[in-house]
Amino acid sequence: MTEVLKETNFGFLGKKKAGKVRDIYEPSTDSGQGSLIFISTDRHSSFDRIIAHIPHKGQVLNQVSAWWFEQTKDIVPNHVLAVPDPNVTVGKKMRTIPIEAVVRGYLTGVTDTAIWTRYSKGERSFGDIKLPDGMKKNQRLATPVFDPTTKEEKHDRILSVDELISEGFVTKELFELVKQTALSLFAKGQEIAAGRGLILVDTKYEFGMNEKDELVLIDEIHTPDSSRYWQLRSYEEHIAAGEEPEYFDKEFLRLWFKEHCDPYKDAVLPAAPEELVEEMSRRYIQMYEQITGEKFIAGEEPMIPRMEQNLKQYAI
Ligand SMILES: Nc1ncnc2c1ncn2[C@@H]1O[C@H](COP(=O)(O)OP(=O)(O)O)[C@@H](O)[C@H]1O
Ligand SMILES: [Mg+2]
Repeated sequence: MTEVLKETNFGFLGKKKAGKVRDIYEPSTDSGQGSLIFISTDRHSSFDRIIAHIPHKGQVLNQVSAWWFEQTKDIVPNHVLAVPDPNVTVGKKMRTIPIEAVVRGYLTGVTDTAIWTRYSKGERSFGDIKLPDGMKKNQRLATPVFDPTTKEEKHDRILSVDELISEGFVTKELFELVKQTALSLFAKGQEIAAGRGLILVDTKYEFGMNEKDELVLIDEIHTPDSSRYWQLRSYEEHIAAGEEPEYFDKEFLRLWFKEHCDPYKDAVLPAAPEELVEEMSRRYIQMYEQITGEKFIAGEEPMIPRMEQNLKQYAI
């Protein structure tokens, strides 16, 4: 049985802040701007809660992100200081810019904030682009759209550029810089993805500022959790037949929970069937291999002692 990484409690790294998927530690800040240690766990969230633990997912997310940071560092510097373990990235702590830089290349999605949902309700203006009538679901946009939301505690809001600036989220200059950088990153992402037989459909970036007030890419980039990917080979055929594109599918696991419990209300959820969890794990690994073109090599187990060893150097 493969081990799963549910959580870490590395008191020697300082205080832990647990996100849904990552455990973040902030070792003491010696010289003003310190570092953050991001540990990607195997937690899998949906319906705003953890629904399962997927073997190797944490490693895939961490290494896919690290790979893309490397591929895009000529476009914008990033926060990565080191990747000392298959599941860990050490990043430089930045002053965060409170917007989620969303870029969309296709007319798709099902949630309230998705571009297809809004388009099908009659909305036509997105960012500074106006879409024509008569477009079909999953159609490629003539040019990618920069469609930012605010990054807030409660719920991300969609604000117009003028509102983002007038409500003080960003200055006009910074907004333009974030937008141009996000679009450049997305163009490069799409180009590389196409070379691997994938369509990078949409994504979300986060940025910060360093001590010299320069823009820096933070958080994660082009992971299967922050981005949507479709298979290029079957896209045209599926669209022509009125079918959904071939996607990296997390939906089947959501569906199982919807059929077997009320994931929004039940205090305790049933365990997902082992074969579904294994299928999900295989898909994450396949995504890693398709994106990077490299064979996935699982990190050594047991994981906790391995990580403690690899992170010793960051003890406070
Ligand atoms: N280099 C960085 N400096 C400061 N904050 C960062 C940096 N990189 C990522 N972050 C922040 O760390 C958090 C990562 O948390 P995450 O595990 O993604 O949980 P969630 O997305 O649920 O907030 C985000 O709030 C992100 O903005
Ligand atoms: Mg996040």
